[in-house]
Amino acid sequence: MEYSFDYFKKITDFLKTKVDYTPQIAIILGSCLGPFAEQIEDPVVVDYQDIPNFLVSTVASHAGKMIFGTICGRKVVCMSGRFHNYEGYTFEQLVIPIRVFKLLGVETTILTNAAGGINVDYRPGDVMILSDHIKMNGDSPLRGRNVSEFGARFFSTVDMYTPRLREVAKRCASASALTIHEGVYYFYSGPQFETPAEIRAFRALGADAVGMSTVTEALTAAHCNMPILALAVITNMAAGVTDIPFTSEEVNDTAKSISQQFSEYVKSIMREL
Ligand code: HPA
Repeated sequence: MEYSFDYFKKITDFLKTKVDYTPQIAIILGSCLGPFAEQIEDPVVVDYQDIPNFLVSTVASHAGKMIFGTICGRKVVCMSGRFHNYEGYTFEQLVIPIRVFKLLGVETTILTNAAGGINVDYRPGDVMILSDHIKMNGDSPLRGRNVSEFGARFFSTVDMYTPRLREVAKRCASASALTIHEGVYYFYSGPQFETPAEIRAFRALGADAVGMSTVTEALTAAHCNMPILALAVITNMAAGVTDIPFTSEEVNDTAKSISQQFSEYVKSIMREL
């Protein structure tokens, strides 16, 4: 399916009927980072299934709600629940949320995710600010007819993880109890976790963490020139990094155990924007 400008405009026109302000910041919450959404004041909650032309979330740990409101005095729109290629969505479909944020007039998008640690200096419960990514599998989300209202056919990805926002995130790290790194995220389409041999290969290529999301959204943001900050919560060491195999329960438990501190950290960044 080809997505025209009007396809995205129809979604945005519907959402604009729900609130009478322009959100300054958009945030997409990854697995089990949902508690952040509970802190939004004066929430206006819209179920994905009620939004025309939108997608629905199929992952149990992803809520499937778009929430408008205020947090730290900032007007925000928050996606509690995101979409992944492993759910069966095409890479082209994954452009939808960011393009809607762009048309809503959002200035900055924050992307969060759960990831496996590849860098042996990382520990579960740490956070990694994405400085760059490696995406070797799957199509580009920008494949197909270029929707030129959003950006040019060919576009640069240098500094697509906005340096100014990474600096803010690093400054805020010193006031957080979390250990915060900056590194390279490897996109893996999943849904199976990686093999130990894959993880050794990704490390040799320069990756520090691995996950199944974020990069499609980040590329869409780069195409439409939207500043982004992407934060990975290291929920486990990736396959084969330690002798103890991890489970998806461990991923969820770690995400839950640091969700409060992580929310505080994200809020401290938002106050600086
Ligand atoms: N690999 C891929 N995605 C993940 C992981 C992992 O180890 N942990 C959390 N999301």
